[in-house]
Amino acid sequence: MTAQSYKFPQDFIWGASTAAHQIEGNNTNSDWWAREYAPQTDLKEPSGDACDSYNRYEEDIRLLAQSGLTMYRFSIEWARIEPIEGVYSRAQLLHYRAVIDTCHKYNIEPMVTLHHMTLPLWFASQGGWLRDDAADIFSRYIEYVKPILHDVTWVCTINEPNMVALTQGGTEGSDFAASSLPSPDSIISQHLVEAHKRARDVLSSIEGVKAGWTIACQAFHAIPGCEAEMEAYQYPREDYFTEAAAGDDFIGVQAYLRTFIGKNGPVPIPTDAERTLTGWEYFPPALGIAVHHTWEVGRHTPIFVTENGIATSDDSRRIDYTYDALAGLHSAMNDGITVHGYLHWSLLDNYEWGSYKPTFGLIGWDKETFERQPRPSLGWLGEIGQTGIVQHPTR
Ligand code: FCB
Repeated sequence: MTAQSYKFPQDFIWGASTAAHQIEGNNTNSDWWAREYAPQTDLKEPSGDACDSYNRYEEDIRLLAQSGLTMYRFSIEWARIEPIEGVYSRAQLLHYRAVIDTCHKYNIEPMVTLHHMTLPLWFASQGGWLRDDAADIFSRYIEYVKPILHDVTWVCTINEPNMVALTQGGTEGSDFAASSLPSPDSIISQHLVEAHKRARDVLSSIEGVKAGWTIACQAFHAIPGCEAEMEAYQYPREDYFTEAAAGDDFIGVQAYLRTFIGKNGPVPIPTDAERTLTGWEYFPPALGIAVHHTWEVGRHTPIFVTENGIATSDDSRRIDYTYDALAGLHSAMNDGITVHGYLHWSLLDNYEWGSYKPTFGLIGWDKETFERQPRPSLGWLGEIGQTGIVQHPTR
């Protein structure tokens, strides 16, 4: 029996995502770098050179283009652009303009994220998102970056504001267990919404720009009888941010896993469940569920899947996971949900917030030489990028 194939619309966009701190290396002016190298750090290992993508970005973009994918989501590192308050680096700005130009050279549409977890150390150490003037400071940075975005259509203001609020402004840490998520900080949540709105206003003067933010969406399930508890749990951790994005040009959905909520909050993953290298339950339908939920809560704002993937050392499992996730996405689109595209997390194995162990990459790399090692999943997804037809290679 052959597995089903799924045909996506011709204009559906296929690509892959990364984030600056996780791939560039030596992001020395950021709060994360300071935390990684603090004597009493709580992290398993520091980011160091990461994948050296700060220097090797052209090769990464070329590999993406050669595979058949057509979009690259990457982030601009605020800590490089403004290493000291009010001191802006023109050279760093031009570095990111060169990344955009390189995308265009290879016919790749860039999607640019302006803030992906890391903050300039000066801002973080002055209170970061807790500061009353956080939105002013963030929009000042975006004003500075705006000139290099003049021909960029897709811009994400803030990555996973809900994770930022949960982790006090960017300290996600190496404990990936979803069941241990703390409560979000309500002041940070409000300031992030304000910063997003201000960023959108700054960006709105760019002709044709589509701006949105990207939300960590879990497929929440209520243990029967705990529906109210689930709603109370989900609202401040997710829906608050989705509601704030209603009416944006798009909402970025980032989905990986599901969480069951009982009377006392999250219920541990059953011991016999398959787990990925992040410790998360292997659950590909999370994407379709998250897309449905975001479409409702976001009052039918168009969706872009800006992250979805799996940390595994078995590339064939990556294909299995992605195939099943895309089946759920296809079915959501058949239900009438507008989805512009799908970006896989991640183009490269990368620094997963405290550890290099969870390997999410369509491309691996040699730890000594940084030589890129594309995996079969890259070719598989790239072909989908060309045909729009999702087929499993062996099922
Ligand atoms: C998301 C983050 C991204 C990456 C993936 C696995 O929460 O946006 O940086 O760590 O999870």
